[in-house]
Amino acid sequence: MIRVRVPAKINLSLCVGAQRDDGYHDIVTVFHGVDLTDELILTATDSRISLTMTGPGTDSLPTDERNLAVRAALLLRERFGTPQMGAQLRIRKQIPIAGGMAGGSANAAAVLLGCARAWALDTRTSELHQLAAELGSDVPFALSGGTMLGRGRGHLVEALPHGGRLHWALALAHQGLSTPDVFRRFDQLGGGAHPPATTQFFGALASADVARVAVGLHNDLQAAALDLMPQLAGTLAAGEQLGALASLVSGSGPTCAFLCPDHAAAQRVAAGLAKLPQVGGVHVASGPVKTAVVVD
Ligand code: C5P
Repeated sequence: MIRVRVPAKINLSLCVGAQRDDGYHDIVTVFHGVDLTDELILTATDSRISLTMTGPGTDSLPTDERNLAVRAALLLRERFGTPQMGAQLRIRKQIPIAGGMAGGSANAAAVLLGCARAWALDTRTSELHQLAAELGSDVPFALSGGTMLGRGRGHLVEALPHGGRLHWALALAHQGLSTPDVFRRFDQLGGGAHPPATTQFFGALASADVARVAVGLHNDLQAAALDLMPQLAGTLAAGEQLGALASLVSGSGPTCAFLCPDHAAAQRVAAGLAKLPQVGGVHVASGPVKTAVVVD
């Protein structure tokens, strides 16, 4: 049996360019894996690929080819395996669904890593990255986690030095947001003009200077997410009143992330946010966290 623990991500900085001919947007982003994780438990079987999911909201998710986790197993088998290779995939979800924290991408990355191990495939890291990029823009980051600079669609990733830990309170909304809808609204609102993260911000991460990290947090998609879900503005403001150093929408939202001075502060902020009617749930998390493969 193989277990893969894969983190949710927050984009510490997300700068979005114009829409490309292929419909995607060039982005420059800083991905940050946090210890709000999904777990894949995988058993190799004969030929059949099956998926079950447990956790909040998973009843609404398909478990056939419409699920990115199943598509990941099929793609890996098609390119590097044989039709006889099968897998029973069980995913325990904690990462919010359609929450802007790359939960679906995390699951696909876990399946690539887990199945490559279970089927004893001779795949190079670069080959897994290629498949990951085909599956989705955030999947290459999820193969490794940690803190990474992402370019292109977000799929070209390189590790960034990260000293110390960042402590977060997370506020979930009652409903999700569709990533394509948020990018579309971003275009309608006229795009973004914020410069990408600088070496100063990378220096703040490397030296674990939380105050300077707080100043550098930025998300170009935030205005679009707020436009689609105006109540998020109240959530962001409330978290800062409760003691967060800074707040931002995570990725395409609607999860809001609050950078806090320490774990105790993150717990206080999360407890306060949990009382807001527009908040559907809270978590306390810290990062950076890397993806881990454990063979039992
Ligand atoms: O790559 P992924 O399938 O996760 O992207 C989902 C959607 O988000 C895309 O279809 C596109 O509408 C939007 N997107 C984008 N630019 C990116 C990443 C995603 O426009 N860099």
